Amino acid sequence: MADTVLSGIRSTGHLHLGNYFGALRNFVRMQHENRCFFFIADYHSLTTHPDPKALHDNVKDILCEYLACGLDPEVATLYVQSDVPETVELYLLLNMHAYLGELSKTVSFKEKARKQPENVNAGLLTYPTLMAADILVHRADKVPVGKDQEQHLELTRRFARRFNGLYGVEYFKEPTAYNFGEELIKIPGLDGSGKMGKSEGNCVYLCDEPKVIQKKVMKALTDQGPTAPNSPKPDYIENLFTLLKVVSTPDTVDYFNDKWNSCEIRYGDLKKQLAADIIAFTTPIRERYLDICNNEEYLHKVTVAGAEKARESASKTVREVREIMGIKPF
Ligand code: TYM
Repeated sequence: MADTVLSGIRSTGHLHLGNYFGALRNFVRMQHENRCFFFIADYHSLTTHPDPKALHDNVKDILCEYLACGLDPEVATLYVQSDVPETVELYLLLNMHAYLGELSKTVSFKEKARKQPENVNAGLLTYPTLMAADILVHRADKVPVGKDQEQHLELTRRFARRFNGLYGVEYFKEPTAYNFGEELIKIPGLDGSGKMGKSEGNCVYLCDEPKVIQKKVMKALTDQGPTAPNSPKPDYIENLFTLLKVVSTPDTVDYFNDKWNSCEIRYGDLKKQLAADIIAFTTPIRERYLDICNNEEYLHKVTVAGAEKARESASKTVREVREIMGIKPF
């Protein structure tokens, strides 16, 4: 039987290359062979208290970007998280078996608590339970995500195991973070630091204008170049090569690797090539995005149909979970 595949992206702004190569691309590749759910995690974005208009606009942008990237609402179920209240019920039920110790130890909670010490809300703490509810509500097998979500998937598996153990059932499957049998991917930022991320301000967005992309890439951190043949690359140079690997041809990557190894690398050439290849990759996406975002009627139809399909699957799970937990009608 086909696997159930699910993934989602928080509605905190436009999609960037990290979102695409970490999650969306894998999902798009899998949508025809599997039972697929892809959603916009708007509840998850509430932990930072966004402005209501910005929240709504972000959901629309992401919806258009999903479609522009090739997500097909005829084959995959594409929905907005808040259109499926069953998720919230499962979240509440799972929270009864989720412990303060484990929730407060996650990297994402500690990071957020550090970044917004004035707003360490309960939503932030229980962020992984909501994520587990998203996944378990459709009893997903595979979850295409980037490296940064690995710990959340580990917790989801733990919640599933705990539920099964407590109630003596084999109800929830243990879903895996997925990238075609390969390591989960981490797309780096252009500032020499770790990952590309919205809050890090180091992103290339899928819908950035070519000029903007060029400017961002040309400003990426480099140095004087290697001083000895075949030297290891410092992180900020390795980052540029990682980006090159996802958007350029293997020949291009080999060419610059050879130049590096022979100490003949010219960063200006590398950056020009990288910018050109990112632009070639994003331009069709941006054009489709601009086309789709004026079609309000189509967007409305997609979200209504997606919510209906998602609720059908989710309500079955919640009905069964209630029954297992002893919540039954008289
Ligand atoms: P979010 O919105 O931060 O990121 C969405 C997806 O993009 C991936 N990603 C990256 N992958 C590689 N390199 C990067 N630099 C990079 N930046 C982001 C993330 O790994 C993720 O797959 N909690 C989730 C959203 C969510 C979810 C879910 C995902 C809510 N419920 C259920 C899967 C299943 C989040 O904040 O992702």
